[in-house]
Amino acid sequence: MFKKIFEYAGPHKKGIYTATAVMLLSVLMGVLPFVLAYQIIAPLVMSDPIGTAYVTTRLAGILVCLVLQAILNGWGLDISHRAAYNTLLRLRVALQKRFETLPLGVVQDKGTGTVKKLFVDDVDSLELLMAHSLPEGIANLMVPIAVYVAMFCVDWKLALMSLASVPLSLVAMMLMYSVGMKQMGPYYMAGQKMNNTIIEYFNGMEVVKVFNKDADSFERFRSDVTSYRDNTLAWYKAAWPWMAIYSCLLPCTIILTLPLGGWFTYIGLSSLPDLILVLCLSLSIGLPLLKAMGFLPTMPQLNYKITALEQMLDAAPLQQTEDSFRGKDYTITYNDVTFGYQTSQPGPDGQPIVSVNNVITNVSFTARAGQKTALVGESGSGKSTLAKLLIHYYDPQQGSISIGGQKLRDMSLTALNNQISYVAQDQYLFNTSLLENIRVGRLNATDDEVIEAARKAQCMEFLEKLPQGIHSMAGDAGKMLSGGQRQRIALARAILKDAPIVVLDEATAYADPENEEKMEAAIAELVKGKTLIVIAHKLPAIMNADQICVMAHGSLVATGTHDKLLESCEEYKKLWKAAQDSAEWKVHTAKEGK
Ligand SMILES: Nc1ncnc2c1ncn2[C@@H]1O[C@H](COP(=O)(O)OP(=O)(O)OP(=O)(O)O)[C@@H](O)[C@H]1O
Ligand SMILES: [Mg+2]
Repeated sequence: MFKKIFEYAGPHKKGIYTATAVMLLSVLMGVLPFVLAYQIIAPLVMSDPIGTAYVTTRLAGILVCLVLQAILNGWGLDISHRAAYNTLLRLRVALQKRFETLPLGVVQDKGTGTVKKLFVDDVDSLELLMAHSLPEGIANLMVPIAVYVAMFCVDWKLALMSLASVPLSLVAMMLMYSVGMKQMGPYYMAGQKMNNTIIEYFNGMEVVKVFNKDADSFERFRSDVTSYRDNTLAWYKAAWPWMAIYSCLLPCTIILTLPLGGWFTYIGLSSLPDLILVLCLSLSIGLPLLKAMGFLPTMPQLNYKITALEQMLDAAPLQQTEDSFRGKDYTITYNDVTFGYQTSQPGPDGQPIVSVNNVITNVSFTARAGQKTALVGESGSGKSTLAKLLIHYYDPQQGSISIGGQKLRDMSLTALNNQISYVAQDQYLFNTSLLENIRVGRLNATDDEVIEAARKAQCMEFLEKLPQGIHSMAGDAGKMLSGGQRQRIALARAILKDAPIVVLDEATAYADPENEEKMEAAIAELVKGKTLIVIAHKLPAIMNADQICVMAHGSLVATGTHDKLLESCEEYKKLWKAAQDSAEWKVHTAKEGK
C-alpha cells in the first residue's frame, strides 16, 4: 500500500521512519502512566504498606510521562511534516515531468479543473497519509499490540477478555473498507466533474449572460454540485454505519474484563492485582486504538488517489526522438492519416471508460514546399485537427506525417517547432508586456526587431494607443486585448520567428474588413517563399492557393485548384456558393444600413 508513496519519497523515507519511531515513544509515554497508576492502586487495594516517597515518585513519573508524550508528539509531527511536504514537492515535479512527455493536445484536453485537482488537491491530500496516517496510525496500532502481548504474559484469560472487542470491530472495519472502496470511484469522478464544471461556469459566464443561458448553465452547475453531494453522502452512508459500530466497539476494551474478570477473581481463577493491572492496561490502549482507527480509514482513499493520479498520466507519451530536423525540403506529406480524440466517461464502477472516435480518416495529401495549400470544409470536418497533427499536438493512431521525407515522430518536438510558425484562432498571451509576448516568437530578437514585427503585423495602431505602448502588460491571459488584436500579436510572433513553414488556422477570423486587408498584406509578406498551410472559412481569401484540399466528415474528398474544384467537386461548389451568399448578404445589409 505504501510502496508507491515511498518511491516518490526517495531520501525523505527516512524522515517517515524517524517520525514513526518518535511517535511510538510518544504513545508509549501515554501508556506508562497507567502502569504507574497500577503500582499505586494495587498495593492500596491489597493493603500493602507503601510510603509517601513511593507514591510521590510515581506521581512525578506520571507527570514526566505526560509532558514527554506531548513533546515527542510535537517533534514527531514536525519530522513527519517535513518529510511529507518534501515528498509532495518531489511528486509534483515527477508529475510535471510525466506531463511534459505527453502530447500537448492530451494535456489541454484534460481541462484546467482536472489538472488543478491533480496537482493541487490530490497531491495535497497525500499529506494526510504521510504526515499523520503513516506515523501516527502505525504508532497508535503498534503500542496496543505490544500492550496486549504484555497482558497475555500477566493473565491470558483476562487478556482474552480485553481482546473481545477487537474481532467484532475488525469485521465492521473490513465491511467499512469494502463498501467504501466501491463508492470511492463514483465519488472521485463526481468531484472531478464538479471541478471542471465550476471552472467552465465562471469562464463561460459572459457567453451565458449574452445568450440568456443562465438557467441552462446554472442547471448544469447545480446538477454537478448536487451529484458530488450525493456521491459523497452515498459514500458516507455506505461506510458510516460500519464506522460507527467499529468506533464504539474498539475502544471498549474493558467491556468483558470488568464484569467477567471480576467474577474470575471472585472464584479464584485470576488474582486481584492481575485484574487491576489488566484493567489499567486495557484503559491505556483505548485512546491509541481510537486514534489508529481515525487514520486507518483514510488509507484506502489515499491509495485510490495515488492510483488515480498515475492513471491520469497513463496516456501514451508523444512519439519523438532526440534527432534534429534532416528533411530534404519543406514539403509536407500526410500519409494515410487516421486520428481520433480520446474521450473518457465515468463507467458504472467509477473507473473511466476511454473511447476514441475517429475525426480524421485515411487522409493523404502533399503540401509542396514554397506553395500555398488551403484546407477548406464545413465546420467540424477536421481542418484544425489536421493542423494540430502537423504541429504534433497529438500522434495519429494510424499513418504518418513527414516534412521533407522525415517523419514527425523521427525528430524532436523542438526540432519540429523550429520549422513551423502556427497561428491559431485563439492565442494565449502571457501576463507580461506585449513586447515580451511578441518576443516569444524568437527569444534572442532585439527590441527593434520585435517592434518591426509588430509594425508588419499591423499591431502599432492599437499598441500606440495603450498608455505604455508596446511595454503595456497583456493582462491576465491577454484579456485586455480584443480577439483581433490578439491575433495580430500572434501574427507578429510568427513574423519574428520567420520559420520556413507557416500554418494559419483562421488567422484573420476576428479582423474587421479594414484590418483584414492590412493583415492579408502582412501575411503575404510573412509567407513569401514559405510552405503555407492555411485554413479559412472565407473562401475568396484562398481561391489563389496552389492547392485546395476539401475536407468533409474527416475525409479528404478532393484536391485541386479553385477552378478545377469548381468544375468537379460538389462539396466545394456547395462551400463556394455558401461563401458567395454570405458575401451578398453582407453587401445587402450594408446597403440597407445606409
Ligand atoms: N479536443 C477535442 N476533443 C474531442 N473532440 C474534438 C476535440 N477537438 C475537436 N474535436 C472534434 O473533432 C472534429 C473536428 O474538429 P476540428 O476542430 O478539426 O474541425 P474544423 O474543421 O477545424 O471545424 P471549424 O471550421 O469549426 O474550426 C469535431 O467533430 C470536433 O467536435
Ligand atoms: Mg477549426
